[in-house]
Amino acid sequence: MTIHDFTSQSSLLNQFITEMRDVSIQKDAMRFRRNIERVGEVLSYECSKVLENTNETVTTPLGTKDTILPVKDVVICSILRAGLPLHQGILNYFDQAENAFVSAYRDHIDDGDEFEIVVNYMATPSLEGKTLLLVDPMLATGRTMKSVYDVLLRQGTPKNIHIISVLGSTEGLNYVKKHFPEDTHLWIAAVDDQLNSRGYIVPGLGDAGDLAYGTK
Ligand code: URA
Repeated sequence: MTIHDFTSQSSLLNQFITEMRDVSIQKDAMRFRRNIERVGEVLSYECSKVLENTNETVTTPLGTKDTILPVKDVVICSILRAGLPLHQGILNYFDQAENAFVSAYRDHIDDGDEFEIVVNYMATPSLEGKTLLLVDPMLATGRTMKSVYDVLLRQGTPKNIHIISVLGSTEGLNYVKKHFPEDTHLWIAAVDDQLNSRGYIVPGLGDAGDLAYGTK
């Protein structure tokens, strides 16, 4: 796996993430969603630089120009519900992409720290031979990402896989590195060192789905 981790780069990404973490700013759900969306836009642009490309010629009013464009057979697949603002940010840039949605949740056993991942809804086009952008803002344990990927494979084998995430843990990164194909790319704005016993990233930012939609 090729990991593109922007944690230590000073850039606007850090501003967006810092606002998302900040308890005095993150209460503004609209701003929180917009910040996730902005991270999606920046990571889409970065990702577009390494996608397979095609040579095309464009006709202008004054002539023609040869150009190089990223492939168009892109499917964005997000994990409900926290994935929705990130999905929108990516779709803002990959605006011709197909879209897929999967619902997955953590089922805590006896309300304890142990949990299983339940995938209970999927709407997706065929993925056979396409470029899959697999989207979840929080790459905490990596287990949700892997469970969703296993279910998605029933819809065909993508040619290229790019995981796009806002914030991850070192453990989550190691997990996906181990369980995804070697040629997968991971694009992530920031990585924290720790996970707590309930699988939350520390210091992290809290529950991204609740913060994005003002639920508890
Ligand atoms: N999901 C979240 O929303 N936050 C975490 O820290 C981990 C998983």
